[in-house]
Amino acid sequence: MTILDGNHISALIKAELKAEVEKRLSFGKKRPHLAAVLVGNDGASETYVGHKVKSCEQAGFSSTLIRLSTETTEFQLIEEVKKLNNNPDIDGIIVQLPLPKHISEDIIIETILPEKDVDGFHPINAGRLLIGQDGFVPATPAGIIELIERYNIETSGKHCVVIGRSNIVGKPISVLMSRKGYPGDATVTLCHSRSTNLSSITQQADILIVALGIPNFVTIEMVKQDAVVIDVGITRTATTTTKSGYKLTGDVNYAEVSKKCSFITPVPGGVGPMTIAMLMKNTLKACNTKD
Ligand code: GUN
Repeated sequence: MTILDGNHISALIKAELKAEVEKRLSFGKKRPHLAAVLVGNDGASETYVGHKVKSCEQAGFSSTLIRLSTETTEFQLIEEVKKLNNNPDIDGIIVQLPLPKHISEDIIIETILPEKDVDGFHPINAGRLLIGQDGFVPATPAGIIELIERYNIETSGKHCVVIGRSNIVGKPISVLMSRKGYPGDATVTLCHSRSTNLSSITQQADILIVALGIPNFVTIEMVKQDAVVIDVGITRTATTTTKSGYKLTGDVNYAEVSKKCSFITPVPGGVGPMTIAMLMKNTLKACNTKD
């Protein structure tokens, strides 16, 4: 069994990005600049945005964090996004989700200029991905693809089962795994909360991608011998063993499943760090496109 080490691979990618930034600067070009907007004070969102901003700095990117109160209106948030759209120094914009209930996520996402939408959530980028055009691919599925590629995992003709149909992970990874070429050319089954006989489907998976948000949902009986298992879940669960009082738990029962599979991502240290590395890669791409 091989652990798909997201910490190691993301560190390699960040070093590659840092070298590219230095090359840009040596040619007199601008530093890539990511703007992150955080509305409210959700603990998990604060942590994710904090990691994104810190990683940018480590790789020599500029970053701007805009913190807004939970009471921010939809109109005010739209105005903030428009300011970032119109600021030529900002290459990439992310608005951390989820947003407070009184703000429409769809409206905010559609306000971000597609060429600055480094999360790849805008309908233009989602559409481009679907029809195989170049655009921004959401960072989590892009990170999964990068892991598969860097570990040379065979995907052609394989049965890839995805659990979860979100716009951020399940839907885009299904498109990526079924597209022509490597990594891709897989036969994809997209499962969700209404799927019946889920175990009978997951047992046929050569590659199992789980993005459900239910801790330890996938047990050993659900997994085929020597499957590749990618765990996107990161739920905070209570524990007495850490200072913070919580730990991150994946959707896969790692202790059991790791004994049966050929490759597996740990939680934490699997897909999570890859997401951040790919967000930065998208930001550099947005910056390069403007040269
Ligand atoms: N919330 C959970 N994942 C993401 C992400 O990748 N980007 C943003 N903006 N919000 C998220």
